[in-house]
Amino acid sequence: MIRINENYSKLKASYLFADIARRVGAFTSANPAKPVIRLGIGDVTEPLPPACVEALHAATDEMAQRATFKGYGPEQGYAFLRDLIAKNDYADRGCRIEPDEIFVSDGSKCDCGNIQEIFATDIRLAIPDPVYPVYVDTNVMAGRTGQNVDGRYEGILYLDSTAANGYVPAVPTAPADLIYLCFPNNPTGAVATRAQLEAWVDYSKRNKAVILYDSAYESYIRDPAIPHSIYEIEGARDVAIEFRSFSKTAGFTGTRCAYTVVPKTLMAADAAGRPQPLHALWNRRHTTKFNGVSYPVQKAAAAVFTEAGKAQVKGLTDFYLANARLIRESMTRLGFACVGGDNAPYIWINVKRDSWEFFDLLLEKAQVVCTPGAGFGKCGEGHVRISAFNSRENVEKALDRIASALR
Ligand code: MLT
Repeated sequence: MIRINENYSKLKASYLFADIARRVGAFTSANPAKPVIRLGIGDVTEPLPPACVEALHAATDEMAQRATFKGYGPEQGYAFLRDLIAKNDYADRGCRIEPDEIFVSDGSKCDCGNIQEIFATDIRLAIPDPVYPVYVDTNVMAGRTGQNVDGRYEGILYLDSTAANGYVPAVPTAPADLIYLCFPNNPTGAVATRAQLEAWVDYSKRNKAVILYDSAYESYIRDPAIPHSIYEIEGARDVAIEFRSFSKTAGFTGTRCAYTVVPKTLMAADAAGRPQPLHALWNRRHTTKFNGVSYPVQKAAAAVFTEAGKAQVKGLTDFYLANARLIRESMTRLGFACVGGDNAPYIWINVKRDSWEFFDLLLEKAQVVCTPGAGFGKCGEGHVRISAFNSRENVEKALDRIASALR
């Protein structure tokens, strides 16, 4: 008889945001007269920047004419987009990344989740806690962990991110082979300094490890001393893969475009201990399982790098950061210790009680959706994450309702 992948039985029944959506759905069905404000999942609410919309329209017109119509594009992305990314996101920040080291895709969630396929099953994982659940769950599915015991999977080296270390875990004393890092951080909003990233690059070199660096929120960095890319750190080309997305930058959560950088100098050993380029493996995986992002969407992404596009994206991220400041100030006034929100669209709030209980309280008493910290890991317990992605009117209304509910 056909059998299932038993690793799935180690997972929690549903994915965090699916679980939240189910609870919110149940509340709205039972309370149709009470409109809910969603500050849970980090999903943008502002429309696409006009430069992207214009490019989408123009590309759609090209697709409508025989002479300019396009079928399959290169799986790795069109050269026009990869060239712009290499120049604007890397060369202009002093990083040496070639266009053919960039793989355009339909999302960083998929890339972060799929990348583990190119590594051996019996490697040692180091994963922060709290963390974006995709990193953990995809490794559980692939059989790299044991059971979940007391909120943690056997076989993962957890890197605690707490108030004591400013939510930036120090390098461990134990060795690891594959390390997940995300800065600006989801869920805590913390950023890593150059010195902290240098320590991670150094650790990875010593341990012949690879860092998976999720930089999906880099466009929210306002502190000029904070690196936007792991490749701003000397030697990172030899130890790191980076994930970037247009989702939170240019409002592409529903449009879908992201990219992953795999430098050609990045190696991992085969069974005989010979170094093999990860670029070739990811290229093999990508060309086998992915057929490219649509031409109009890549044209829209390319428009992000025009002068108008850059100004519009800055306007969008400034707008969400202003929401974040309001949330942080308001929650601080209510007596909660808060971090994040200054270089990230998330505010991480110490609510000093069970995080699902606080989630339920905000939903029932204020009709506001947040994300319970426990959903991001054991260290997330006692915290909630509030996202800055909503209209100003809704954020202000949500904050008023929260203040009344907690009074
Ligand atoms: C989140 O809320 O953590 C993000 O929206 C998840 C994602 O980007 O997939």
